[in-house]
Amino acid sequence: MSVLTTKNTTDSAPQGDSVTLRQPVAADGREIWRLVSDSGVLDLNSPYCYLMMCQFFPATCVVAEEDGRCVGFATCFIDPKRADRLFVWQVGVAVDQRGKGLASRMLLDVLRRAENRQVHYVEATIGPSNKASQALFTGLARRYGTEIRQQAGFTPEMFPGAGHEAEDLYIIGPFDAANPAV
Ligand SMILES: CC(C)(COP(=O)(O)OP(=O)(O)OC[C@H]1O[C@@H](n2cnc3c(N)ncnc32)[C@H](O)[C@@H]1OP(=O)(O)O)[C@@H](O)C(=O)NCCC(=O)NCCS
Repeated sequence: MSVLTTKNTTDSAPQGDSVTLRQPVAADGREIWRLVSDSGVLDLNSPYCYLMMCQFFPATCVVAEEDGRCVGFATCFIDPKRADRLFVWQVGVAVDQRGKGLASRMLLDVLRRAENRQVHYVEATIGPSNKASQALFTGLARRYGTEIRQQAGFTPEMFPGAGHEAEDLYIIGPFDAANPAV
């Protein structure tokens, strides 16, 4: 299969919303890197890292586009040891698209895909200061009518240098990926 082949998703855009969702291809890695860089919040990883996510994990990643511009993404993967868990690594939405439900829409899009039907839990790590991200995952739990629990995740000492806050582990589930309650 060509790496330039895109795969449509199950998402249908809300009325009046021109943002479309699809699975990424490797070439999207560059724009995802740019969005992460512009976010000012997310850890900026190497461009190669985003290329790899798009190339090797398209079924669990998503990009949002408006008029050919990448305005959002989520990079996720299935936990290699627990096939019922989707780990959400990074989610980002362009500043001018925030607060319109796009991040929630992207996560639901990944979870509704036929390839991901075995997923019954979502996991993500979130810093205590990232209220938007906490709200995003709390909203996801509400949409599935399920629980969200918080546990110790990565501690500040695990990161090089000083100044990285803790990354607490949030676990959402169990749920039926294909059927959000709300
Ligand atoms: C976090 C982020 C992805 C949310 O994107 P978004 O498209 O604005 O999110 P949504 O519109 O889908 O909102 C999801 C929920 O979070 C809430 N929310 C969104 N931004 C919020 C904020 N700044 N403060 C509090 N709540 C917020 C919404 O009200 C919504 O709640 P609801 O489900 O009760 O209605 C976006 O703010 C972003 O890109 N931030 C920078 C990167 C980042 O922090 N990523 C997450 C860590 S990986």
